[in-house]
Amino acid sequence: MTTLVTGGAGYIGSHAVYALLDRGSPVVVLDNLSTGIRAQVGEVAAFVQGDVADRALLKRTILDYGVNAVIHFAGSIVVPESVADPIGYYENNVSKSRELIAACLETGVKRFIFSSTAAVYAEDAVQPLEEGARKVPISPYARSKLMTEWMLEDVSRVHDFRYHILRYFNVAGADPKGRTGQSHPVATHLMKRAAMVALGRLPHLDIFGTDYPTPDGTGVRDYIHVSDLAAAHLLALDALEAGAPSTVYNCGYGRGFSVREVAKGVERVIGHALPVREGPRRLGDPPVLISDPSRIKMALGWKPRYDDIDTIIRSAIDWERRFNA
Ligand code: UFG
Repeated sequence: MTTLVTGGAGYIGSHAVYALLDRGSPVVVLDNLSTGIRAQVGEVAAFVQGDVADRALLKRTILDYGVNAVIHFAGSIVVPESVADPIGYYENNVSKSRELIAACLETGVKRFIFSSTAAVYAEDAVQPLEEGARKVPISPYARSKLMTEWMLEDVSRVHDFRYHILRYFNVAGADPKGRTGQSHPVATHLMKRAAMVALGRLPHLDIFGTDYPTPDGTGVRDYIHVSDLAAAHLLALDALEAGAPSTVYNCGYGRGFSVREVAKGVERVIGHALPVREGPRRLGDPPVLISDPSRIKMALGWKPRYDDIDTIIRSAIDWERRFNA
C-alpha cells in the first residue's frame, strides 16, 4: 500500500510526502531533480531519481515498492516560461503524464491524484469559481494541465482506473514544523517575494497593477496554506481507496486578499513598513481568482487548519529565513 509521489522533492510535493509519512503511510518519491531539491525530503522517504517519461523505471519502481496509488506533482509551473517554451511544457506536463498513466495501467495501479490549477477557468467565469465553471485556459501551462485532466477523464471511462483532480488556487506558506518550504531559486510568486522583501533580500515589493476592478485596484487571490493543500491530497487518496468515483476539486479557502492586503499583512507580521513599488499590470494576470471550496468540504470533509493570512505570511517568512541560513 505504497504511494508514489512524483515531484516529491518539490514545494507542494514535499509537503504531501511529510503529511503521508506523519500518518505512517509508506511513500516512494520519484523526482528528476530538475527543480526539486533532494534535501527537501531528506532521508525520510524512499527516493528514486528519475524521470516520469522513463516508463521502464516507472514500472520497476511501482512493482518494487508495491505502489497502489500515485500522486502526480511533477511538472513545469511557470506561466511566462510556458508562453516562451510551449513544446517544453506540453512535453513535461502532457507527454510525461501520458507515460505515467500508461505505466499505471500496465502495472494495475488504479488510483491517481493530479495537480491541476485554477488557471484552467475562463477569466470572465463567475467568482467564486465552482468546478463546473467555464474553462478557457490561456497559457500553455494552463492548457497543458487541462489536457491532462481530459486524458484522465478519457482513460477512466474505459479502464478500471479512478482519479481525483485537485485544482490549486494560490499556494503559499510552509511546513509548520519547518521541514520544507518554497525553495525554488526563481521567485515570481507574491508570497515568496514579499517574504524576501521582509528579510531585506529584495529592495522592494512590486505591485503589478493598481487599476484592476477590485476594491483597492490590486489583484485578488485565494491564498491557501500548503499544509492544508497537502491534507486535501491525503483525504482524496483515502476517498479513492474507499471507492469514491473520479472527480475534480477546487482547493482554496473561498476568500480573497489583494496584493495591498498581503503587503499590509506582512507589515503586521514583521512590525514595520514594507517598501513597495507600484507598477503596471503583469501580462496575463486576471483581476480576481477565488475558489468555491464547497465540494471538497462536503465530499471529503476537508477542514482547513491554517486559513489565516498572517499565519500563512509568518510561515513563508520563517521558511525564507531558514532556507537561506
Ligand atoms: N504580484 C505582484 N507582485 C509580485 C508578484 C505577484 O503584485 O511580485 C501579484 C500578481 O499580479 C497577482 C498576485 O500578486 O495579482 C498573485 O501573483 P502570483 O505570481 O503569486 O500568483 P498567480 O496568481 O500569478 O499564479 C497562480 C499560480 C499559477 C497559476 C496562476 C493562474 O501560482 O500556477 O495562479 O493565474 F497558473
